[in-house]
Amino acid sequence: MLKAVILIGGPLKGTRFRPLSLDIPKPLFPIAGLPMIQHHIEACVKIPNLNEILIIGSYNTNELQNFVQEMMSIYGIIIRYLQEFTALGTAGGMYHFRDQIRAGSPEAFFIMNGDVCADFPLEEMLKTHKNSSAMLTIMSTEATRQQSLNYGCLVLGKNNSVVHYVEKPSTFVSTLINCGIYVASLDIFQIMADKFYAKHVQETFMHSNFNGKDPAHIALEEDILINLAGSGKLFALHTSNWWSQVKTAGSAIYANRHYLELYRMKMPERLVPSSNGKCNIIGDVHIHPTASVDSTALLGPNVAVGPNARINSGVRIRDSIVLADAQIHAHSMILHSIIGRGSIVGEWSRVEGTPCDPNPNKPFAKMENPPLFNANGKLNPAISILGTRVNLASEKILLNSIVLPHKELTRNFKNEIIL
Ligand code: GDD
Ligand code: GTP
Repeated sequence: MLKAVILIGGPLKGTRFRPLSLDIPKPLFPIAGLPMIQHHIEACVKIPNLNEILIIGSYNTNELQNFVQEMMSIYGIIIRYLQEFTALGTAGGMYHFRDQIRAGSPEAFFIMNGDVCADFPLEEMLKTHKNSSAMLTIMSTEATRQQSLNYGCLVLGKNNSVVHYVEKPSTFVSTLINCGIYVASLDIFQIMADKFYAKHVQETFMHSNFNGKDPAHIALEEDILINLAGSGKLFALHTSNWWSQVKTAGSAIYANRHYLELYRMKMPERLVPSSNGKCNIIGDVHIHPTASVDSTALLGPNVAVGPNARINSGVRIRDSIVLADAQIHAHSMILHSIIGRGSIVGEWSRVEGTPCDPNPNKPFAKMENPPLFNANGKLNPAISILGTRVNLASEKILLNSIVLPHKELTRNFKNEIIL
């Protein structure tokens, strides 16, 4: 039997994703029409013998419980949300709920960071894990020298064993990076227990305050992987499959494009065919069955339209996500933008952002996740975002701007955050 754990963090994480995560937990933000972690669940349910998924995080919302119920009814597999009392770190939460993970003695379990998206090679990872008798197997991919510093870096020895691991190094270590997807055997809990007791001793006798973190906080990367490297128990599966983190709102559009592309290859029924007789489509477009799109609108490539959204005549949308209940009135244009739930864009208006895709001329380049502001205090050019229930009047232009929920916009905006 196999299990999977999806780590979703809590309300204090995902700050770069605001305002999109203001009214919905970031792991439930829809990408290519599905909540971000539903893509993880879909990858897991394909693995034979995997019969339980545990979602661990510190969000305290009914939305996650409702999501879990919905997923169980769709996929017919046991899924549970386990809530940490505080952020316990990427391994602390698993250690806290170890009895639930160990119940039924799974031969191995997947660990998946909820904030990555990928064509997950879970089956291959499992094979590698079994063949190498590893305690932990990491999915890894290639990054550029410069970008590797933002990730966990691995140095490989014989048979893809990890001989050295550094989390977000300050100087170059390796271009092989940790993708935040793992297969683990149950004996990993012994390593976590050793770390847990070492911290307990430190707290009792040395009165450490652990930088304000809970003493039960254990980071999989710093506390476990670094120690496991070189022990012959840590292995990597190198993949060239598409993979990306979803940290900023801009990366949601990039992830949207790639999940739509995966639909084209594996589940074309989720895309609207270009010859559908109802509206004009270019490339990969997903439209929720309850959305209405006028026959003269032109959508795509890379567009996802959510439930009950209304797209009127002459509208042009590309590289954008239109969320549930949004309305785009006649002849408006939406480019590289996210239109929040229930927002309204008036007629002949234009909402445009700047694409922030990885540099196509650099092999292995990943998304940059720049901060909102540059050194001069100016907004870095990025996608435009209308938060929930924003109203943009007719004949207005909104360029590279971020709008917080419930705003009435009656003039043009350029490079602004509208609070
Ligand atoms: N349950 C729980 N509790 N989950 C957590 C906690 C916690 O206290 N802290 C973080 N997470 C979840 C996050 O929601 C995210 O899905 C994942 O664990 C990783 O979180 P971060 O702490 O933000 O790490 P990171 O994304 O900067 O780096 C990690 O992922 C990279 C790949 O995306 C590291 O594992 C890197 O080595 C790796 O390259
Ligand atoms: P490329 O720049 O080569 O991609 O060609 P393009 O000028 O056609 O640009 P784009 O693909 O972005 O636009 C595609 C369609 O959108 C065309 O049919 C344009 O007429 C239409 N379009 C461009 N700007 C607007 C606008 O502000 N409003 C509306 N309603 N449509 C627009």
